Amino acid sequence: MKGIKNGVVFITGGENGLGAAISKKFAEEGAKVVIFGIDEINGNKVAEECSKLNEGAMFIKGNVTNNDDIKNAMNIIKDKYGKLDFAVNNAGVTGGLKPFGETANDHYDLIMNVNVKGVFLCMQNELQLMMENKFGKIVNVSSEAGTSAGFEGLSVYVGSKHAVNGLTKAAAIEYATKGININAVAPGTMSTPLVKAFPQEDQDKLAAIRPSNRLVNVDSVANTVVYLCSDYSMDMVGTIISVDGGNTIK
Ligand SMILES: NC(=O)c1ccc[n+]([C@@H]2O[C@H](COP(=O)([O-])OP(=O)(O)OC[C@H]3O[C@@H](n4cnc5c(N)ncnc54)[C@H](O)[C@@H]3O)[C@@H](O)[C@H]2O)c1
Repeated sequence: MKGIKNGVVFITGGENGLGAAISKKFAEEGAKVVIFGIDEINGNKVAEECSKLNEGAMFIKGNVTNNDDIKNAMNIIKDKYGKLDFAVNNAGVTGGLKPFGETANDHYDLIMNVNVKGVFLCMQNELQLMMENKFGKIVNVSSEAGTSAGFEGLSVYVGSKHAVNGLTKAAAIEYATKGININAVAPGTMSTPLVKAFPQEDQDKLAAIRPSNRLVNVDSVANTVVYLCSDYSMDMVGTIISVDGGNTIK
């Protein structure tokens, strides 16, 4: 896609699930892929797969809730590539299902720290490096739970993804005249290995809430992320693109 080749992309949680699909898609398009996350084994594996598609991919171990880890990653990127073109803030956790009234403080802290503070800290550091070139594209990975609350047992997750949408829009306005586009993608339940392992009956239920009557394809979400970093999205500012089979327009 126009504008992606030879760009440097930083992808949090790029070791698994959607993040791995995004990492490979960028490598296929000729970008230098930097994966950042806590899973060293899969991180190195996916970086190796990306390197076969386009040389120069790497994994950096780090936690999105730790500002020093993120700063360390930015320093490595600056030393190796001298710039950061694109960033995909994808790392996120659901924390499992819990009724609102039974949600413990540490459950709340975990989800909010990774999903909201993590996105906030990553964006701040990414923007600092991008501003050196006055160019950049940031894509935050939100969810259909960022605009809709109808997901039983996921109240804190719902709150966290609504916050991601708010941060995306507010930062997008601030940087709209500075050469930096900030947007988000909001996937519905995807056919990731985790979901494919659910009993067929549960998968069917998750599919049936969508007008499309199927789970969301991971690659279609990854392609939307790449589009938001391409030259074709120059006028996308603070947009939250739903890729959810129509669930949130019902
Ligand atoms: N799976 C779905 O159906 C679905 C639907 C809508 C939105 N999403 C969102 O998509 C994103 C990716 O989800 P996924 O299903 O691929 O999940 P996943 O669990 O397969 O991958 C999450 C990745 O984030 C990394 N990670 C977790 N905590 C981290 C931390 N503190 N610091 C750094 N890295 C960390 C993990 O190592 C992992 O690689 C998340 O933001 C999620 O909320 C997923």
